[in-house]
Order: sequence, then structure tokens, then C-alpha cells
Amino acid sequence: MSQQSSTRQVPEHGDVPRHIAIIMDGNGRWARNRRLPRIAGHRRGVEAVRATVRACAERGVEYLTLFAFSSENWRRPAEEVALLMQLFQAALSNEVEKLHRSGVRLKVVGDTRRFAPKIRRLIEEGERLTAENRRLTLSVAANYGGRWDILQALSRLLKEQPALDEIREEMLSPYLAMSYAPEPDLFIRTGGEQRVSNFLLWQLAYSELYFTETLWPDFGAAALDDAIASYRRRERRFGRTSEQLQDAKRAEVA
Ligand code: IPE
Ligand code: IPE
Ligand code: MG
Repeated sequence: MSQQSSTRQVPEHGDVPRHIAIIMDGNGRWARNRRLPRIAGHRRGVEAVRATVRACAERGVEYLTLFAFSSENWRRPAEEVALLMQLFQAALSNEVEKLHRSGVRLKVVGDTRRFAPKIRRLIEEGERLTAENRRLTLSVAANYGGRWDILQALSRLLKEQPALDEIREEMLSPYLAMSYAPEPDLFIRTGGEQRVSNFLLWQLAYSELYFTETLWPDFGAAALDDAIASYRRRERRFGRTSEQLQDAKRAEVA
């Protein structure tokens, strides 16, 4: 299914969000609370990823996008960056086969050129192995930045459509890193911070935002259900009035 801009038409949406995007934050604080090194929090974070992928597949979520490493995270101490890379590599080596067996399609979005050749190879192999799976599309955002995404999309678009004044909004979407997915219905950030931290800037234009104090290693099926319950209570208006939406619903039933 192709991407559509939710700023143009109201996308169909039911009780379960089709696309959930998560900023997995709070690993460091989870570890500090236990007097453990930060990497222990990141390791537990991988377990939370497993639980969340499973829960999303069970609930019929079609797309799950996880922010694993931002383009700004290179600013962390070299030792933490190195350990995160090791963990990413180990997760790719150990999890891809299991994901494949569960019918999950893996995508990695971001500027992967900065990763070690071994990691890039694992990404390519994992994406190729799982390319035909349709139960759930798991996108891992790694060395991803929302501004990078908009700029790389624009520069590719300009190569084919050099007249800048003829560029319209919907022409950019096919060039964005996640052109294969609809825009996120639900955005979740764990760890208590209420900011977007350069995640999917373009695509979050009309997503429902949900912030929770739960630290990422403690996230799982129950916390996901709380977020989905909150999503269900929202009225997505996309600029329209509540009355317009109710009229449209009545017309649908009639
Ligand atoms: C999120 O947890 C994981 C990454 C950014 C890689 P943090 O490491 O940011 O955890 P806190 O925010 O320090 O608790
Ligand atoms: C955002 O978390 C990036 C990821 C979860 C990968 P950060 O912990 O890096 O965000 P800031 O720096 O506190 O905004
Ligand atoms: Mg953080």
C-alpha cells in the first residue's frame, strides 16, 4: 500500500493504529536507578523491543517504527557509541531469523553509510531475507534524523524535477526514507521527555502524540495497550470540525 498524506484526506482508521512510531527513551535512567552501567539498560531495551514487536503483531498493527539511534547520538561518549554498535550488530545477528519466522519484514531507515561494513551487510541480508513478509513491517531508525530525511528526499526529487517552484507537497513523500509506509497514526515516547528529538518530522504532521513516564526497558504489551487505549479516545480531525466528521460517519452508515 502506498503512502498517502494525511493532511489531504482523512485516512481510514480503526481502533488499532495501522502505524505506531516509538522513541525508545530511558534506558540510561533505568540502569542508573539500579546502579548498573548504561549499557545494561540498552540490553534490557532489546528485550522490550522483542515484547513490543510481538504485541504489535498480535494486535494487528501493520507498521512499527522504532527510533534506535539518532543522527545526534554520535555525540555520546565514544565508549557508549561503540557498545551500542556492538549491541545493534548482535541484535541483527540474533533476531533476524526469528523475525522472519514470525512473518516480520525488517527495514532499516537512516543514513547507514556511517555504519561498519559488517553491520551494513547484516542490514542488507536481513532486509532481503524478510522482504516478502507482510504480517508486520518493523522499521528500525538508525543514524536517522528527520531533517536529514527531508533533505535527502528533496535532493533526490530535485534531480528528477529541477523546477523548485513546481514542487508540491505530495511529490516529496515518495522520496522519504519510509515511502513504503503510511504516516504514523500513533507516536509514543517513553522516558518522560516531551519532545520529538529530530525523529520523523515530516511524517508526524498529524500523528496522535502519546508520552509516558515508563522507561523503555519497562515497556511491553501492557504499556502498549495503555497507549492504544489513549489513541482510541482521540478524535482525529485533520483540520476539520467535529460536526463534519460526525456527518461523514452518519452518511457512511446510511
Ligand atoms: C534511549 O535511551 C536509547 C538511545 C538513545 C540509544 P537513553 O540512552 O537515551 O536513556 P536516558 O535518556 O539516558 O535515560
Ligand atoms: C532520542 O533519544 C533518540 C533515540 C531514542 C534513539 P535521546 O535520549 O537521544 O534524545 P534527547 O537527546 O534526550 O532529546
Ligand atoms: Mg535519552
